[in-house]
Amino acid sequence: MALIAGNWKMYKGPAEAAEFCLRLREQDLGGVDVVVCPPYVSLAVCVQLLAGTEVAVAAQNVHWEQEGAYTGEVSAAMLLELGVYGAIVGHSERRQYFGDTDGTSAERARAALSAGLFVIACVGETEEEREGGVTEDVLRRQVSLLEPDDNLVIAYEPVWAIGTGKTATPDMAQEAHALIKSVLDVPVIYGGSVKPDNAEELLARPHVDGALVGGASLELDSFIAICRAGASTNS
Ligand code: 13P
Repeated sequence: MALIAGNWKMYKGPAEAAEFCLRLREQDLGGVDVVVCPPYVSLAVCVQLLAGTEVAVAAQNVHWEQEGAYTGEVSAAMLLELGVYGAIVGHSERRQYFGDTDGTSAERARAALSAGLFVIACVGETEEEREGGVTEDVLRRQVSLLEPDDNLVIAYEPVWAIGTGKTATPDMAQEAHALIKSVLDVPVIYGGSVKPDNAEELLARPHVDGALVGGASLELDSFIAICRAGASTNS
């Protein structure tokens, strides 16, 4: 069964998030595993409104320390106190704009997993790396820093496919996922311009265990269509 996660990025404050959750909880998701990842300020309302449903709530980032002088950061313990189920770590936008590295992303994953959070750890090559023929080296390096855990899922998000409308072909995704799984045997979901019209083909591939959806997770109709595509595949 596929995992479909919606990464809302810096969209939907508490009022908009509440409106989305009220509509989401009325939907038949076909038994697929669904996670929404709102900004920090909207986590509490999502946890509250999705309690008792099949939909889990995860943060978009988490710090590696439990507490401390780390302005602007939030710890796993704080997320758990709020009733949050998991967190994304190492998203390429964190790496690109906020200085996260393979090392800090792995630290965040380790701390979150040991605190008991479910973790979606993002990996993926840039366009330059793909064109330079080093995709495999990059993925091996990023994945080898992570440790196996029942609560760990890896998201393969080729950086050149994020928010660009360029999607990796199902063959490219399958090849990258197989490589990742040869390094670490955990579920691997695909992210990068997943839309209702390409979700089914991607999710039908044997190594594609779900999707991490950005833009198309912001509208209920397109998010639901992707969830249903996930429910109809056997991965
Ligand atoms: P888009 O689906 O908007 O390309 O974003 C992908 C992503 O970054 C999900 O984390």
